[in-house]
Amino acid sequence: MSIPLLDLQAQYLELKDELDGVIGEVMSTAGFIGGPRVKELEAAIAEYCGTKHAVACGNGTDALFLIMHALGIGKGDEVITTPFTFIATAEAIAHVGATPVFVDIEPDTYNMDVSLLEAAITERTKAIMPVHIFGQCVDMDPLLEIAERHGLHVIEDACQAIGATYRGKRAGSLADVAAFSFFPSKNLGCAGDGGILTTDSDEIAAACRKMANHGTTVKYYHDTIGVNSRLDSVQAAILLVKLPHLDRWNAERRAAAAVYDELLADLDLVTPVTRDFGEEVVHLYIVASPERDRLISALQAAGIGSAAYYPVPLHLQEAFTHLGYAEGSLPVAEAACPQTFALPAFPGITREQQEEVVRVLREALAG
Ligand SMILES: Cc1ncc(COP(=O)(O)O)c(C=O)c1O
Repeated sequence: MSIPLLDLQAQYLELKDELDGVIGEVMSTAGFIGGPRVKELEAAIAEYCGTKHAVACGNGTDALFLIMHALGIGKGDEVITTPFTFIATAEAIAHVGATPVFVDIEPDTYNMDVSLLEAAITERTKAIMPVHIFGQCVDMDPLLEIAERHGLHVIEDACQAIGATYRGKRAGSLADVAAFSFFPSKNLGCAGDGGILTTDSDEIAAACRKMANHGTTVKYYHDTIGVNSRLDSVQAAILLVKLPHLDRWNAERRAAAAVYDELLADLDLVTPVTRDFGEEVVHLYIVASPERDRLISALQAAGIGSAAYYPVPLHLQEAFTHLGYAEGSLPVAEAACPQTFALPAFPGITREQQEEVVRVLREALAG
């Protein structure tokens, strides 16, 4: 039985007529950049997340980069984040000339360990960038309390967490500003690259919108150097078709996670831990084992998709050697990286498929 890590084909087939219809509509109107679909999507995402504004852009990395600019973060500034994330989080910090400062993670949720945050704050710290990794929110209350005490901005990297909640509020509305990715494999994905940022701040929204559009608010008049980072109308139209299904898909992901929790209970594998302060959206179902690479090979040999997340923590990536982190400096992230991997847990996965995944894992662990 072949089981992909994520079944995007099935998601397309489920909504094929509607998706084909809206793509055809954009093609026939030839309004490819900007336009009513993008505005509609911004309004829909702002409403979904519970924020005043949403500003669409080219991708999640750009959303973070635009936010850095809007907050005036640059050379000489430090931004505290996690080493256990996709590189885009720290890239956005580095690209404006600021320095990413990594704090270690919790061993069970893989999220930033907020108890280590205060010790990492220096005179240069400008912001904290928590990442809601794998779709579970960081413990935001103590983080926001520390940020407020030190006068720091807080930027949610919510790229993996659309729909997740923390104490009754949605990811994207928990701090000053947040970034989302619509990369195809995300819980709400488009058919290419796409991103959006959400905020209650008129100033941040306006600054990001301007920066994303060549530094202009009046066509051909530029009072600042911007970039070209826009969401196109085809992507916006696709996302508008998919958004009404997001909560159901997230519920199906949670149901799949619950099935794995049950089926894996007697195996020598570490299963993910969920905090009780909100609802996670299981962007990825992550398990851990010292036998990780052998288990991934066994799954792949059986036609089952699986992948290591994340094989190397950011502080030990070659791109960040200039930051001077030594091996052993962030021991929890370093212990997780050789062990953690994702199992198929996409919306619509059947119990039979999950039983097959677990059968292969059981056999591999026994052998
Ligand atoms: C945690 C995190 N941050 C940022 C990004 C960047 O998003 P994008 O690929 O849309 O640029 C991603 C996804 O790829 C991500 O998972």
